[in-house]
Amino acid sequence: QMGLKTTLLGKKIHYFEEVSSTNSVAKEIAASEEEGTLVIAEIQKGGRGRMGREWVSPHGGIWMSVILKPGIPLRHASRLTLVAGLAVANVIREIGLDARIKWPNDVRINGKKVCGILTEAKAEVDRVDYVVLGIGINVNMDLKDIPESFRAGSTTLKVELGKHIRRVSFLQDFLLELEQQYISFKTQPFSHILNDWLALSDTIGKEVKVTTPSRIIEGRAIGVTPDGALIIRKADDTKEEIIAGRCIYARP
Ligand code: BTN
Repeated sequence: QMGLKTTLLGKKIHYFEEVSSTNSVAKEIAASEEEGTLVIAEIQKGGRGRMGREWVSPHGGIWMSVILKPGIPLRHASRLTLVAGLAVANVIREIGLDARIKWPNDVRINGKKVCGILTEAKAEVDRVDYVVLGIGINVNMDLKDIPESFRAGSTTLKVELGKHIRRVSFLQDFLLELEQQYISFKTQPFSHILNDWLALSDTIGKEVKVTTPSRIIEGRAIGVTPDGALIIRKADDTKEEIIAGRCIYARP
């Protein structure tokens, strides 16, 4: 189809010139699709970020969703966000850029965001029916392609590398990396992936402020739990685990 090196991911691809959100499309078809099916679009008109935010998705990026059926308990679904972040960071490092991961899911270069991941799952009781892994990577855009109000703190691979990137070969490499990480996720103790993720994370050790819809937690990020929740040690020395939220570094 497009010279894929994978056996599972991308066996079937739904390609769109324009779509509202690849995650929304993927969720609509997930029940009747096989694991590994991909939804990918040139542009998204209603790209969605975490916590109800908008995700700017102009021409030049990679906007895609992967349908997975790992048969795991719902509480483990957030682990797949870490799996995807690790895979993105690894392929970006392969092209020579120093990609780091900011908990829970931002892949950054020189402190600027180049990729975001939105994991959505549907579960019956506690078993996951499917997981939609939505991955957005700023590849060949210039900064002027990103509306000014979203530009702060963002970058693209082209800006960081100083040259255009072949999106198809990047995508082939990424899918292979993601497939390998996913196989390891299914067959190995999760601690393997967590250790690799921790090695690329720039969050642990930092003073952070995490906002969730209900509260704000400040302190030092000291680790992640096996499910990928951030462990924060607060000023009063008590610890808190936060499974999802928006993380800001006190001293970026
Ligand atoms: C975030 O950092 O807030 C997550 C951004 C996720 C963006 C991707 S792009 C492909 C997929 N479709 C969407 O609508 N969102 C995800």
